[in-house]
Amino acid sequence: MDKIVIIGGRRLQGEVGISGAKNAALPVLASSLLVDGWNTFHNIPDLEDIKTIRSLLASFGVKSEGGHTVSINAGAITNCEASYDLVRKMRASVLVLGPLVARRGEARVSLPGGCAIGARPVNLHVKALREMGAEVELKDGYIEAKASRLKGATIYFDISTVTGTENIMMAATLAEGTTVLKNAAREPEIVNLSEVLTGMGARIRGAGTDVITVEGVKSLHPVEARVIPDRIEAGTFIIAAGMTNGDIRILDCEPRDIEALTAKLRETGMEIKAEDGCLRARGKKKVRSVDVKTMPHPGFPTDLQAQIMAMMTIASGLSVITETVFENRFMHVSEMIRLGADIVIEGNSAIVRGIPKLHGAPVMATDLRASASLILAGLAAEGKTVLSRVYHIDRGYEQIEKKLSALGADIKRVSG
Ligand code: EPU
Repeated sequence: MDKIVIIGGRRLQGEVGISGAKNAALPVLASSLLVDGWNTFHNIPDLEDIKTIRSLLASFGVKSEGGHTVSINAGAITNCEASYDLVRKMRASVLVLGPLVARRGEARVSLPGGCAIGARPVNLHVKALREMGAEVELKDGYIEAKASRLKGATIYFDISTVTGTENIMMAATLAEGTTVLKNAAREPEIVNLSEVLTGMGARIRGAGTDVITVEGVKSLHPVEARVIPDRIEAGTFIIAAGMTNGDIRILDCEPRDIEALTAKLRETGMEIKAEDGCLRARGKKKVRSVDVKTMPHPGFPTDLQAQIMAMMTIASGLSVITETVFENRFMHVSEMIRLGADIVIEGNSAIVRGIPKLHGAPVMATDLRASASLILAGLAAEGKTVLSRVYHIDRGYEQIEKKLSALGADIKRVSG
């Protein structure tokens, strides 16, 4: 198994290009199930999770070609079952549920099960489909859904759910009548998906707000569309600048999508400004501590909580980081402590007392964003950090070690 070896202490500077957003590309690729014909999607990142969704779609008979530009055709769906083997690799596989039921009238999708960051049920996806007239049973570890044609309904999500909103928005495009999603998630990835669906002929209003209205149509047509830049990857590189007293120009990013982060980082003393179509992030020798509370968008993203915690470990003062979205997203804490960090967990908060320097050590990745935070900590630490289980990082960051080396980091991947 590969490892990432970092010798910390280098100042990062230069330019970095941001890849397409994993969490936008996944639902966009799943949306191809709604259409008969070749769709073309640009700016698809080259990631393990993208390979997983393409394998899953291929198992339904969907044809796809290409890499960063993917041509994909779900003309002949020969199978409507998403097996446990594929779903357990990636929970977002549940995104095929809504489109399959809408287009084929049936789906059998394995229940995802828990994961390193929490129980992560899909009860709200199931409840919404039932409200749209589908018969849904949970049997032998699978969600089995059937509907000759889904019917529009008013759906209230008890909790803001990103993939839940995406799944039901896709399902509603082909339903009979109007569906209104209330307390819908407002993430930029949902707006991206809504634009793709609208390009296919769907009638959607309100994506990006907490009320989304979808008027069902009889059929959709192929589309050519582009995936938005990955705001979490961009945020990770901005934090890298902040932790290494660096100066990084972030290319291909949408500053509006990461305001919750950039506002926080300015409080730490960083200088971040839009410049010639890119975002320039400059760190300072001294990092001021800030408190952070994760929230659904437009609040501070849970997907950047581990990374900002890495930064707070070397800040001057005390920081309280509160995780409100997932119940178990502090797996990186014990690994950061191995690097010398002073962190105590109290309930859903981590109390971080900044120290002048972290010290390199072997650490283990437990999930995608935890891996990113440990790489950041390794970049700032004195000496050598060796990160194992790097397959987690390959799920969601395209060539992270190459991008960081180009910025001057001493980082390499070794096998074995
Ligand atoms: N929830 C329920 N019932 C449901 C659905 C969600 O109780 O039916 C709860 C979850 O357990 C969680 C909260 O609602 O406590 C929010 O979860 P959400 O459904 O929004 O998460 P998700 O859609 O499964 C997506 C991203 C995650 C990201 C979260 C929150 C994708 C493919 N995944 O997950 O990304 O953390 O939204 O923003 O879009 C990552 O990229 O590392 C990652 C984990």
